[in-house]
Amino acid sequence: MRRTIAIDLGEEGRHLGVLRYEEQGARQSASFEYAADWLRSSDRFSIEPGLPLASGPQFHRKGGDGSVFHAAIADTEPDGWGRRVIQRDHARRRQEARRAGRPVDARPLNSMDYLLAVDDVSRVGALRLKDENGHYQRAAEEGRRTTPPLIELAQLAAATRAVEMNAETAADLAYLRGRGTSLGGLRPKCSVVDDDGWLAIGKFPSVTDERPVTKGEVLALRLARRAGIDAAEARLVESDGRPVALIRRFDRTAGGRLMYVSAATMLGAEPADPDEHSYAEIADALRRYGSRATADIEELWRRMAFSVLITNVDDHLRNHGFLHVDRGQWRLAPAFDVNPFPDRVRELKTWISEGVGPEATVDALMSVIAYFRLSRDRARVILAEVEGAVALWREEGRAIGMTEVEVESFAEAFEHDERGAARALIS
Ligand SMILES: Nc1ncnc2c1ncn2[C@@H]1O[C@H](COP(=O)(O)OP(=O)(O)OP(=O)(O)O)[C@@H](O)[C@H]1O
Ligand SMILES: [Mg+2]
Repeated sequence: MRRTIAIDLGEEGRHLGVLRYEEQGARQSASFEYAADWLRSSDRFSIEPGLPLASGPQFHRKGGDGSVFHAAIADTEPDGWGRRVIQRDHARRRQEARRAGRPVDARPLNSMDYLLAVDDVSRVGALRLKDENGHYQRAAEEGRRTTPPLIELAQLAAATRAVEMNAETAADLAYLRGRGTSLGGLRPKCSVVDDDGWLAIGKFPSVTDERPVTKGEVLALRLARRAGIDAAEARLVESDGRPVALIRRFDRTAGGRLMYVSAATMLGAEPADPDEHSYAEIADALRRYGSRATADIEELWRRMAFSVLITNVDDHLRNHGFLHVDRGQWRLAPAFDVNPFPDRVRELKTWISEGVGPEATVDALMSVIAYFRLSRDRARVILAEVEGAVALWREEGRAIGMTEVEVESFAEAFEHDERGAARALIS
């Protein structure tokens, strides 16, 4: 099987290049080629460091569990939750066809099927994929909206829950199918249009949650903003009595889409990569490609401090990203997927620096201030702002509607020795 998919950019659909995909037995390969017009245009840029502006096809070598696609394109693939919905839908359709005596598509889903199964309306970033017939993928079915309005949240939540419990009906899947369920990440979520028309992500409680995770995320994102961090705008909405975290999409503007890549892509880190990566390397990338490197490197240090103080330890490289600004200059994307983890070892997934390793301590933070171009005084000011916001965690939790028991279920994430270390340093 061979596919030739056009890659376009943004709402206006500027042609960027062509993605070619080939599948032979178990072997899959992909190449990307920039369009000649793109390479000649004055505002051209390379969509990731791994795809330099050059003519001719550039092949991608799949490493280990990594994607068959180039990293910037793979950043728009569904994983975890999205793949689950797509798989179930595929299986269900086969079953129905068999029952109805129609020919059955016995082929297992391949990487291209998953990549193209993401809604064009909600695909992360600004890349858009057009099939051989010139239709953006995935296209809405005739006469259907793909991204539902907020008012349908209860229906989305119910269908999502059913899929999680392996109890979904054909109607649940028919409903979720093509409804923007195919974003990356592991937690159950959907795309939804907020009351003001803005694209948002709805993150649902999972049936396996042992504490109110969605409330914890909204709490963390709101505290992050109080701590001076540029964080995604989040609020809680109730749907059939269940708390859904509603997070505004930062890769959309009033009429457009912003090019997004994960920090993993920017650093050229493969999922199977045995090397640990660090915030110091993200700072290096900002120095090299940043449109406002100094401010973003300081922002990065502030985010590390916040993560240390709230025990946000699921800070892997796909939970950080960059937005394209102009001609190959990028800025740090707002913070997202920030969560207090009361029950985990206090070790960061992304190390502060290679030298200090995974330790989530104020000492480690202070040991890298020179690398982040911060004076000791400036670092203390930032730490004081972050600590000042984190100290309000109980109050903020109550303000978003958490009960006392729910607030206390997060206590260990917020109350620990590093808070004391921070206070000692800033007093
Ligand atoms: N506010 C946002 N605006 C734009 N894109 C976003 C936003 N929040 C998340 N994303 C994109 O959606 C993906 C999944 O979101 P998120 O990381 O919140 O989900 P998750 O299921 O909690 O992930 P994980 O697997 O890390 O636990 C992110 O990796 C990012 O590409
Ligand atoms: Mg994530």
